[in-house]
Amino acid sequence: MIPFNKPYLTGRETEYITDAVVSGKISGNGKYTKLCQDFFEEKFGFKKTLLTTSCTDALEMAAILINIKEGDEVIMPSYTFVSTSNAFVLRGAKIVFADSLPNHPNMDCSTLEALITPKTKAIVPVHYAGVACDMDIIMNLAQKHNLYVVEDAAQAIDSYYIGKDGIKKALGSIGHLAAFSFHETKNIISGEGGMLAINDEQFIERAEIIWEKGTNRSAFFRGEVDKYGWVDIGSSFLPSEIIAAFLWAQLENLEDIQKIRKQHWEAYNTQLENWAKNNEIELPQVPNYATNNAHMFFLKCKNIEQRSELINKLKKQNTHPVFHYISLHSSPYYIEKHDGRNLPYTDNFTDTLVRLPLFYELDVQTVINQIKE
Ligand SMILES: Cc1ncc(COP(=O)(O)O)c(C=O)c1O
Repeated sequence: MIPFNKPYLTGRETEYITDAVVSGKISGNGKYTKLCQDFFEEKFGFKKTLLTTSCTDALEMAAILINIKEGDEVIMPSYTFVSTSNAFVLRGAKIVFADSLPNHPNMDCSTLEALITPKTKAIVPVHYAGVACDMDIIMNLAQKHNLYVVEDAAQAIDSYYIGKDGIKKALGSIGHLAAFSFHETKNIISGEGGMLAINDEQFIERAEIIWEKGTNRSAFFRGEVDKYGWVDIGSSFLPSEIIAAFLWAQLENLEDIQKIRKQHWEAYNTQLENWAKNNEIELPQVPNYATNNAHMFFLKCKNIEQRSELINKLKKQNTHPVFHYISLHSSPYYIEKHDGRNLPYTDNFTDTLVRLPLFYELDVQTVINQIKE
């Protein structure tokens, strides 16, 4: 059986968890949390990071930090996971959905300016499959209209954007805030897990408070205040040291994990090229301003019937591809709230996109052979 995903253990996860447990510090913000946060800040140039228990949590923190309130509008793609919008809806925002590009699920940035109104507070680009949105366009729009940018970088660890100035920047380091996921389906995992990256310094102090249930406990432990108490709204966003210890074992092997995932991705891409052409199927495209972190290998089928046929035939051979994202603008919860605009490219990806298995220990050649058959 070839599953869609199989979590990869690098070898030292349980050793570090044991170390955290025997050290007597298993709640959050201890040695392993600091090791992970320092690693991310140093390697990817995020000003400040805070581990969270999920990307969903990090997005909710971002919505609190930029003071989203009833009636604010937030622009994001419709082709995304529910958490991208839920985080802002929880605080009363109206979501204004943008359509995808014709050839990629990422937002079509040329459509964004027309969606901005005096109520718009933020743009939330989702770097689908770890492939960058065109961040120069988004950051220029944000500056011009005084908006915040929260990158949904759930799938985008170790991926980059190359701006018009030629400078290569890590995804998640460009917007005011960014959210990452370490859910077991991602490249780097901790079961459930996530991270908020804070690039605009004005948010750092308050982010720590929101992270610590609305208290200034982090400042207290650093000796900056002589007692701690309730100073703002917040919730229980920080993960235990057990999660951070697991994540640290993964981070020590980031390069190896990425190398192997990229090999699998390249094998799919080169060996399926002719087959895809002959069947009017599109392989994933990476624009020249983006890099590929091999988070996902997806196909865009000719139509929904062809996709169902492909999935069913692979399942008969015990290989399990998946499809996802029922467009949020036509989901049961939001269809009545959506402003009614058609988003044809989004709907097209809902009908035609299929994700092939991609994980460290994958026997990629078997899947390729089965597909060609
Ligand atoms: C684009 C996107 N945003 C947010 C999330 C939520 O991540 P988490 O499961 O860590 O909360 C996911 C999860 O797959 C995602 O793909």
